[in-house]
Amino acid sequence: MSRPRIAVLISGRGSNMMSLIEAAAAPGFPGEIACVISNRPEAHGLARAQAAGIPARAIDHTAFRDPSGKPDRAAFDAVLDATLEAEQIDLVCLAGFMRLLTPGFTRKWQGRMINIHPALLPSFKGLHTHERALAEGVKIHGCTVHFVTPEMDVGPIIMQAAVPVLEGDTPEALGARVLAQEHVIYPAALRLVCEGRARIEDNVVRVDEFELAGHALVVPPPAG
Ligand code: GAR
Repeated sequence: MSRPRIAVLISGRGSNMMSLIEAAAAPGFPGEIACVISNRPEAHGLARAQAAGIPARAIDHTAFRDPSGKPDRAAFDAVLDATLEAEQIDLVCLAGFMRLLTPGFTRKWQGRMINIHPALLPSFKGLHTHERALAEGVKIHGCTVHFVTPEMDVGPIIMQAAVPVLEGDTPEALGARVLAQEHVIYPAALRLVCEGRARIEDNVVRVDEFELAGHALVVPPPAG
């Protein structure tokens, strides 16, 4: 892939999207953010992307219904796929994209679609990860960038960051600590993928040996 064209898919505020846009704006970044797509027209991230000069549009998932009125996921994914193809997209980054994708779509983009999840996978798949981490009393929490496979929040792990869970943490405080690390590892993982250095072998991501220290990040608790 020579300087891949990247689409960022969002559903909300788009702070991870902004971390990718800002990283990709740096000279020499090995990929180009070509467009931002939200499944929600009201997503704040759309205006943020436009303000940063990135073409941004909504494909409103609520407009896709079958004759009985039920959500038609396949029809939404077909329009999403056609949009990505029209934009000549090489790589898709899910950044707070809160819509399940169909297995057909996921398989088509497998190896070319990555996601950020606010937990140390395979722990705490799904929603409300910070609340659940606190309820389980884990002492370390974090975030994961992984390749997307048809099963939700499963897929070869590219990079993770761990943060301490501190006495008196609320979901909001813990979530903010994790989010700060999301903004560090997502651009770093995207760089690895753009450079073709995150190879999937037997469902596990391998990078060159000298890079190994670079794809796990542990944030120590505050001193004292
Ligand atoms: C982020 O914390 C991201 O990890 C999470 O949603 C948030 C989006 O925030 N994603 C998921 O939970 C996906 N399962 P952002 O819009 O500010 O990037």
